[in-house]
Amino acid sequence: MMKIAVIGSNMIDLVSYITRMPTKGETLEAPDFKMGCGGKGANQAIAASRLGADVLMLTRVGNDIFADNTIANFQANGISTDYVLRTNASSGVAPIFVDPLSHNSIIIVKGANSYLSASDIQSAAEDIKKCQLIVLQLEIPTETVYAAVQFGKEHNIPVLLNPAPAQPDLILDKVKSCEFIVPNETELSLLTGMPVETEDEIRNAAMTLRDAGVKNVIVTMGQRGVLWLSEKTQQYFPPLNVNAKDTTGAGDAFIGCFASMYCKSKDIAHSIEIANHYAADSVTRLGTQTSYLNKEDFLQQYPQLSGKI
Ligand code: RIB
Ligand code: NA
Repeated sequence: MMKIAVIGSNMIDLVSYITRMPTKGETLEAPDFKMGCGGKGANQAIAASRLGADVLMLTRVGNDIFADNTIANFQANGISTDYVLRTNASSGVAPIFVDPLSHNSIIIVKGANSYLSASDIQSAAEDIKKCQLIVLQLEIPTETVYAAVQFGKEHNIPVLLNPAPAQPDLILDKVKSCEFIVPNETELSLLTGMPVETEDEIRNAAMTLRDAGVKNVIVTMGQRGVLWLSEKTQQYFPPLNVNAKDTTGAGDAFIGCFASMYCKSKDIAHSIEIANHYAADSVTRLGTQTSYLNKEDFLQQYPQLSGKI
C-alpha cells in the first residue's frame, strides 16, 4: 500500500458563520457555529486517508479535551496515532469566520504545534523511511520543516511542500530540493518576491521557483484553476464550476488528494486533474474535514472518474 508521511499541524476549527465582521468594541450575533477537526497537516492527512492512502501522521497535540478529540478523529479515519505526540501545552485552535459569500478569515493559535521538532522527526525516522512521499505545510516551526526537507533528501523520499500559511521568513534555498511545491498565488508571491496579479506574472513567478531547482511547481489559484510547471511541461487545469458554500480547507483537500493519487499512479497531470475535482467538491459543503468525501462517495459525485482513482 502506498504510504505517505504528513509532518505537520492539527487544529480544532471553531467556525462561526457570520453576516459580517464585528467592528472594534462591537458585539455581534452570528447565525451559526460548527466545530471540527482541522489544521492543514491533519486536513491533508485525512483527505489522503479517505482516498485510500496509508498515512503516517507526525504531529503534536496538547493536554486538553481538544487533543482527545483530535486523537479519536485520527483513529476514526484509520490513521495511526503512534506519532501523535502529547505536549504540555494547549492544542492548536483556529477560530474561523465565514461570510455569506463563503469567504473566510482565519486566526491560528498554534499551541502544541509549535513544539514539533527535528528530534521528533528522528524519533519517527524508521517509519518515515518506509514512506513514498513526505508532505509538509508551514504551521509547525520552520526549522522543523527544513529538517524534514533535509530528511527527504538524505533518504531519497520525494517531498511535497505546501508553503501555507504564507510565511515571509521562509528561505527558498532551504526548500528548493522539494519534488513539489504547491503554493497559492499569495504564497508564490512571498516565496519569490514577485507580483502575481496577472496570469503572466503568476507564470513568471512559478518559473522562478522552478529555475531555483524545484522540480514541480503546482500553483492552486482557486477560481482561476491550477498551473503546473516542471522542467519539461507547463500545463493549465481550468477550474470546475461549483456552488461554493465554504472554501475553507479546499487547498488541503487538493493536496491530500494529489498526494494520494500521485503515490498510486506517479502520474502528475492525472493526480492534479483528480485533486482539482476533489477540492472543488469540498467547497460545496460546510467545514474543512467534514466536507472531504471518501473514495466511494467521491466517485458517486463524479462517476466519470470511476476506474481512474
Ligand atoms: O487550510 C485550512 C486550515 O487552516 C483550517 O482547518 C485551520 O485549522 C487552519 O489551519
Ligand atoms: Na468545505
